[in-house]
Parts: sequence; C-alpha cells; structure tokens
Amino acid sequence: MKKPIYLDYNATTPHDPEVIYAMIPYLETHFGNPSSSHHYGLVTKEAIENARIQVASLLNCLPEEIIFTSGGTESNNHAIKGITYSNLSKGNHIITSQIEHPSVLEVCKYLENNGFEVTYIPVDESGLVNPYHIERAITDKTILISIMHANNEVGTIEPIEEIAEIAIRYGIFLHTDAAQSVGKIPVDVKTLKVDLLTVAGHKLYAPKGVGALYAKKGIELTKFIHGAGQERGLRAGTENVIEIVGLGKACEIAKRDLEKNYLHMLNTRELLYNGIKERIKGVRLNGHLEKRLPNTLSLSFKGISAHAFISKIKDYLAVSVGSACHSDHERVSPVLQAMGVPFEWAKGTIRFSTGKMTTEEEIKYAIEKISEVLG
Ligand SMILES: Cc1ncc(COP(=O)(O)O)c(C=O)c1O
Repeated sequence: MKKPIYLDYNATTPHDPEVIYAMIPYLETHFGNPSSSHHYGLVTKEAIENARIQVASLLNCLPEEIIFTSGGTESNNHAIKGITYSNLSKGNHIITSQIEHPSVLEVCKYLENNGFEVTYIPVDESGLVNPYHIERAITDKTILISIMHANNEVGTIEPIEEIAEIAIRYGIFLHTDAAQSVGKIPVDVKTLKVDLLTVAGHKLYAPKGVGALYAKKGIELTKFIHGAGQERGLRAGTENVIEIVGLGKACEIAKRDLEKNYLHMLNTRELLYNGIKERIKGVRLNGHLEKRLPNTLSLSFKGISAHAFISKIKDYLAVSVGSACHSDHERVSPVLQAMGVPFEWAKGTIRFSTGKMTTEEEIKYAIEKISEVLG
C-alpha cells in the first residue's frame, strides 16, 4: 500500500539526508566521551563545539550563548525555571500568552503552584498578542515575559521585536519559543532582541530528542540538571553527540537554504489552500493572513468533525486535528478557543503543514482526496 502523504511538518520533520550523512561517523566510528582528554574524547568534543558554532551562526549569536538540550520542551523549561529561580529576589511575576505550547503553559502552571504569579495574555482572532496588553500587565514584580515566536497550530508570527522594546524599557527578561520558526523564517536573536530563545531539532530536519537554548551572554540561569560540568555546568550528563552533530548540520543547512525552503513551503501551502478553496464550500482559514509561517495552513470546515475526517483520510494523508476527542464529546484546542473560533468551526479544524520535501504531485493528490472525503 502507498504510504499516506505527509503534511504534518509542524509535528515533526523527516531527517535531512545531509544530516544523516553528518551523523554517521559518530554512530560508526567516533564514540569517545567528549569529557575525556585523550584522542577519542577530543574528536567528539570538537564535533560538539563545531555544532555549537553552526547553531550560533544560524541564530546570529556567540557559540558560548548556546546550551544543548533534549529539545524544545527542555529549552522552554530551562529558560523559564532558570530565569525565575535565579531572579527570586527581583520578583515573582511572569507574563505569557494563552496560546503557548504546553511546554510553556505547564511550566507556568507549576510555578503558579509554587508561589509565582502568571498573567496569560489573550490573543485576537488571528492569534496575535497585542504588545500593549503586555505592557499593561507589567508590575514591579515582573521578571520574565515568555511569548512564542510562531504558533504551532495556526502559524501566527508574534510581534517579538515590539515586545522586546517593552521588555528592555522595563528591564524584564524576554524569552521566545522559536521551536516552529527556526528554519522556516529568519530567526536572528539580535533583530528579535530576546534574552532567551528555544530551538527544537526535529522541527528542522534534525533528530527528535535534541534542541538548543540561546541564553544571552551574562544572563544567569539556575542549573537545570545537576551532576558533572557539561554545558557550562548548567546541564550535566554526557552529551548526546550524534544528535548534537545532526542539529548543527541541520542549522547549517537551514541558514544556507532558508530562502529556497521558504518559497517552496509557501508555494506548496498556497497550492493546497487554493485547491481546497476551489473545490470545497465553507472553509475558514485560521491564523494571520500575512504574519504567518510559510508552511502552516489551519483550516476549519464548518459542520464536520475533524476526527471523523481524519479517520476517513488516514490512509491517504497524514495531518493533524485542531481539537481533542474525549470519548463522548469534542474539546476544542485552547489555541482556537483563545482566538474565539466558534465551536461549529473549531471542531472541524485540520492543520496541514508542508515542508521542504513536499512535492506539487503530493499536493494535487491531497486536494483530490480531501475533496473526495468532503465533497
Ligand atoms: C511551539 C512548540 N514549542 C515547543 C515544542 C516542544 O518541542 P519538543 O518536541 O522538541 O520537546 C513544540 C513541539 O511540538 C512546539 O511546537
């Protein structure tokens, strides 16, 4: 049987062949512990430091500002807990948004249960955070603002630069979860003017289970994993050399091919959108029309159940739903809820996300199958 067409690149991406090729020597040959001072250790140590340069080069920062992590979730955890715990004397208030990934929201909830106060900023109907609302929420206890760069469900790109102006004016740390934007649009920490930024390897064709946290030079973070002195003593444990090498290579490729990949994702996404719009009545686009990731297409089909749609199309297409099914009722995603998408639309929401491997033939096939199921 032909495998379903993959249109779920926001969930994860396949490995780039160049990434695989870069990792092979570290699977087959270079096994040394990077902390060992002999030949074997020096080879893997050098590989890690090279990867750090590759990640830093993509983000336009210094290599020593990069901490390797196990992925986006850990980077978000480390950024938020690391800043808040090391700044307890300054305050206990965090500002975030209602549409963050659970790896931000759950950390905030945990901190709320441990003496912190959190303000969850609402978004407008396109998923945009209004910087004015952030400024209004600031108190003399605010120590951190954490707002995602781009939303994973609808792709809306948040006004991080404007939020940074506010954070700088009030002397508050700013973290952004860039798990979905790195590799899809330019992500430059100097342009964004953020203090901390999250990268997730598996969203940019590197393996799952590796990521990075940018932490601006001079920023103090509490230790995340206690043990030996790896990653500047902040994250102990022998490094995941193979995947760090993969992440480094993926970042090098992302920088090299950014424009090409951007245009390709945009072209395939628009082809899909136009094809669906032409054939199916009653389609609603979620997310901002322009300030949106080039690959993300969140569509609501009125009156249908996304879960019923998925079960009919699963042999042909791999896509995501925008609602969670709980045995007898459907629960709309908090992101769509925060955007005020009416229930009868929200429950029929599908997220399509294209990638650099998506072909026009795949899109044509997807349009055929979608119109067969919904027509
Ligand atoms: C916006 C966002 N942040 C964080 C994460 C978590 O990253 P990871 O899967 O690497 O832990 C994801 C993954 O879906 C994401 O989309």
